[in-house]
Amino acid sequence: MNEYTQQLLDFLAVSPTPFHAVSNLSDRLVRAGFTQLHESDAWPTESAGDYFVIRNDSSLIAIRYRENPANRGFRMVGGHTDSPCLKVKPNAVTCNNGYAKLGLEVYGGALLNPWFDRDLGMAGRVTVHLESGDMTNLLIHFDEPIAFIPSLAIHLDRKVNEQRSINRQTHLPAVLCRVGPGEPDFHEIILNRLRDDHPDTGIARMLSFELSLYDCQPPAIVGLEKSFIASARLDNLLSCYAAIEALLHSDGSHNPVVVLNDHEEVGSVSSSGAAGPFLQSVLGRFCKGGDDMLRAMNRSMLVSADNAHGVHPNYPDVHDAAHMPLLNEGPVIKINHGQRYATNSETEALFRAVCERSKVKCQTIVVRSDMACGTTIGPVTAARLGVRAVDIGVPQLGMHSIRELAGVHDQPALATALTGFLDYPDWPF
Ligand code: CO
Repeated sequence: MNEYTQQLLDFLAVSPTPFHAVSNLSDRLVRAGFTQLHESDAWPTESAGDYFVIRNDSSLIAIRYRENPANRGFRMVGGHTDSPCLKVKPNAVTCNNGYAKLGLEVYGGALLNPWFDRDLGMAGRVTVHLESGDMTNLLIHFDEPIAFIPSLAIHLDRKVNEQRSINRQTHLPAVLCRVGPGEPDFHEIILNRLRDDHPDTGIARMLSFELSLYDCQPPAIVGLEKSFIASARLDNLLSCYAAIEALLHSDGSHNPVVVLNDHEEVGSVSSSGAAGPFLQSVLGRFCKGGDDMLRAMNRSMLVSADNAHGVHPNYPDVHDAAHMPLLNEGPVIKINHGQRYATNSETEALFRAVCERSKVKCQTIVVRSDMACGTTIGPVTAARLGVRAVDIGVPQLGMHSIRELAGVHDQPALATALTGFLDYPDWPF
């Protein structure tokens, strides 16, 4: 396993939620010399520098600002920090039939079957009152299996392998423990963990939380030839990690930008999602006015990096027979003329030129004409900014499962192609 793959696995293991992913990526940017800017402050946009901005603790924009974007444009790579999962309901614990259970809301288009019979941890963000009277957000991570959703035995449902469907309200609550003389106090459990994790913070009480469950099984390299990565959240933390890697290796000549949005899996409409104003307002502050921003957009391009469906060897019929991306054959250019992907013939050509120059193989996907097509932050960002864009991503299997499969060779290939894009000479268009 090469060093890059090991770093990716380590990042996946410590990033169970978008909050943790953004925190870990911002630590990496700080180590590389980037300065965090806060949206409520005045920004030093007159001088070149490496900066990043965080919104809602879950979306991040990093920029290596060099010169007036009206003359150079921005080279942008986008991805999303969120993945489908099970989120904890506000009044979290219910007790019945002898067990304390956690009420759960399905976030995004999760494949639900794989959540059964897993050792589930819990992580997220908690907002607390401090003893000083202030309020603050804190990350929390129960890095151990505290919950479990047991399957119903086959003896009690003989048609399970042909017919079982999952009721999200009644079948998903996760078992926490048996109910003893008293019920578990969820707020007390959270507070105790917070006080352990943040011992000098002076936490008075919890006000609210955004918690989700995740699979405690760590990411792994699998397969007879050790050529696959198995992990949760490959869609799309793999792309987020490659994007930051590319930014750090870029020469900075074209004002490279990485934008990582939350809430893609639920439609992107939020203040920190791609349909919100986050990217536009950050880029606008690096331009000297509306006219400069419009000139900059015309010189800019976005690569929306989000994993693609590799052909499933047991279900070849759900793919278009002329477009069958394989794992470990390089990033996939996604095409949908219904604009579910932002790629057009011009941006496809530019990305092909980037791959050729970077010596990275690439593939193409288009969904079957009789099936619906997914989407990414690409079209919504392109529409919001009026910027040209291409949708690409490494091929993977089992998208939106609790454990997905990608190819080990595609990760470094993606990072190399993205660096090649950020540093590519001026566009001919
Ligand atoms: Co995705």
